[in-house]
Amino acid sequence: VRHLLGIKDITPQDIQLIFETADNFKDVLNRPIKKVPSLRDITIANVFFENSTRTRLSFELAEKRLSADVINFSSSGSSVKKGETLLDTVNNILAMKVDMIVMRHSSPGAPHFLSKYIPANIVNAGDGTHEHPTQALLDSFSIRERLGEVAGKKVVIIGDILHSRVALSNIFALQKQGAEVMVCGPITLLPKYIKELGVKVETDVRKALAWCDVANVLRIQLERQQMKYFPSLREYTLYYGIDKKMLDSLNKEIVLMHPGPINRGVELSSDAADSHHSIILNQVENGVAIRMAVLYLLAQRG
Ligand code: CP
Repeated sequence: VRHLLGIKDITPQDIQLIFETADNFKDVLNRPIKKVPSLRDITIANVFFENSTRTRLSFELAEKRLSADVINFSSSGSSVKKGETLLDTVNNILAMKVDMIVMRHSSPGAPHFLSKYIPANIVNAGDGTHEHPTQALLDSFSIRERLGEVAGKKVVIIGDILHSRVALSNIFALQKQGAEVMVCGPITLLPKYIKELGVKVETDVRKALAWCDVANVLRIQLERQQMKYFPSLREYTLYYGIDKKMLDSLNKEIVLMHPGPINRGVELSSDAADSHHSIILNQVENGVAIRMAVLYLLAQRG
């Protein structure tokens, strides 16, 4: 495999190898000198056509910890605004002797399209409503770290499943590792094909929380909603908002996750997001080790 385009394309063995490699890099990141020379002859371009805080910074840090040379491209302020195509933009970046492209794009399939035309390795850093593979890997890695293993765990993904690339990549990743997966949200924010993915479906958030070991909470993706969806944010909070009182009333420990950015007071109250249930910042920490592992393993394959 020369690219990481989605979790759908990789095997459980690939996921295991990425996790074992990330374990080693996590040890490196806990040392006083957090850097290794593994990619010192590699140049990586982070090409972002869509906003990002965590993913862009996490990839850049992972690349620097591996001693790669790094350049960052953001479509805002670039010649894309003058009409340059995606392929021309990337080919011009590659002409500067760049070896790998990490790309975020708002169009589902954009990195798959690119992979047919360019000679460099491509890592999908999120393509529209389709996949966000490194997010799903860091999410499963964080569950494994907190609960010992992913196999056999009951994981519910709560929120705007219809517009979420995190949901789809997580469903593939969790199923490949033998977890039971449920999605929970308003029926209007669940894709019509959801049952074909072999997941449980629940519209009552309290029943979903009572069922699960892990709750991965997503935000409402207003930027992807073409029309005015039901429910409104206020209605969503009323019926699906999670607070610490709800978590404490479960009489069991659950692990609370969120890929970020959190809309505090909408899908999660601050007292839930910052509670002992939450591993949200562990997810962010683990993202660097996971991205180091992905870049390192792809570089070995040329
Ligand atoms: N989790 C995630 O993809 O966050 P960003 O959009 O900030 O990169």
